Amino acid sequence: MSPNILITGAAGYIGGSILADFLARSDSLIEKNNISAAVRSEEQANILSKLGINVLKLDLTDEKAVVEGLLSNNITIVIHCASSLDQAQALHLITALGKQQEATGEKTYFIHTSGLGAFVEKTGWPPGETKDTGPVFSVEKELADSFATRKTDVAVIEHSKAQGVTSFIIIPCTVYGRGTGEWNQLSVKIPIWIQGSISQKAVYKFPEDTKVSGVNISDLTALYSQIVKKIVQKETIPSGEEGYYFALAHEIVWSEALQHLAIALKARGLVTDSKIQIWTSDEAAAESLGVPAPFVQVLFNADENIVAENVHKIGWKPVWTYERFLQNIDDQIQDVVDLGKAKSSLVDSLFAAVRG
Ligand SMILES: NC(=O)c1ccc[n+]([C@@H]2O[C@H](COP(=O)([O-])OP(=O)(O)OC[C@H]3O[C@@H](n4cnc5c(N)ncnc54)[C@H](OP(=O)(O)O)[C@@H]3O)[C@@H](O)[C@H]2O)c1
Repeated sequence: MSPNILITGAAGYIGGSILADFLARSDSLIEKNNISAAVRSEEQANILSKLGINVLKLDLTDEKAVVEGLLSNNITIVIHCASSLDQAQALHLITALGKQQEATGEKTYFIHTSGLGAFVEKTGWPPGETKDTGPVFSVEKELADSFATRKTDVAVIEHSKAQGVTSFIIIPCTVYGRGTGEWNQLSVKIPIWIQGSISQKAVYKFPEDTKVSGVNISDLTALYSQIVKKIVQKETIPSGEEGYYFALAHEIVWSEALQHLAIALKARGLVTDSKIQIWTSDEAAAESLGVPAPFVQVLFNADENIVAENVHKIGWKPVWTYERFLQNIDDQIQDVVDLGKAKSSLVDSLFAAVRG
């Protein structure tokens, strides 16, 4: 029998796309009738209810409401996409899963969405290659206090262990492509860069030539589905301290990607020149991209050196390649033209962190 699955952040880009993907592929392992979505506004709840699924209007910072919501809906799997930073949200959900397990004797699972910022040198991560099959947990634990996402990952793993809940940490890299959810369909980095370029009528870059890892949203949602299917089929896959999954499909060389972007923007008349300009300071870059200056390097200019092994061990096969990404870069511009400003709770929370 298909378990009851709750997707948090279901009005967001990743959570909304996972929800749409799960509904589209509804089968005996992931059944539509067993999917619940958590959102925090009445308007979002009304829109998602039209999909014929169970919608919980929940503020995930409210522990009592979270525990009641999960227990009254017999939730045994949570896919958490509302915040990689806010530890309290994750801990409340795990506490609720622990209570659910205690009440029914049925095993429970927590799938956490983290962020790649935890694993780059600019946030204090050690230099050199990092494999998701390596000692990621012990290094995160040692460096937990110096970056909020690392602290949350460690708390997720330790609290899950204490509650008897099986945990997995998914680390999406630069996610691109139009989301398929009902609410926010724009990702963060690339739409922000496009908006900045349109408003400045030129594409800017940092002086350094960095490379990052990319994944199309459809490949990312397929990874969540793959993990849920393994859980339902009772297959043992890496979890807890070993349960890190780097969701990377291919590299993106920023200078090359931005050159493609500049040519496509110029062809649309959205920038005056396809020649790339160089930002002279972090403040200028932050202003152009609309993010707080202290975070601009970590978000947009961090060289990544990560290797994904666990995702392949469980049979994930992304279909988007770097060549396909470059060939379809104009679609990213169309998404921004259609949908306007990217609304990201990550950027909101970074501004809140700077304000203190
Ligand atoms: N997009 C990427 O490229 C990327 C890459 C790596 C990691 N991530 C991480 O993945 C997570 C999801 O990203 P996303 O792009 O899907 O973000 P998003 O579009 O901003 O979605 C987050 C959703 O969570 C909801 N939420 C936030 N706090 C909540 C609370 N206290 N109670 C209930 N709901 C709450 C938000 O509600 P509202 O709609 O009311 O704001 C929003 O709908 C984030 O933690 C992000 O840092 C994203």
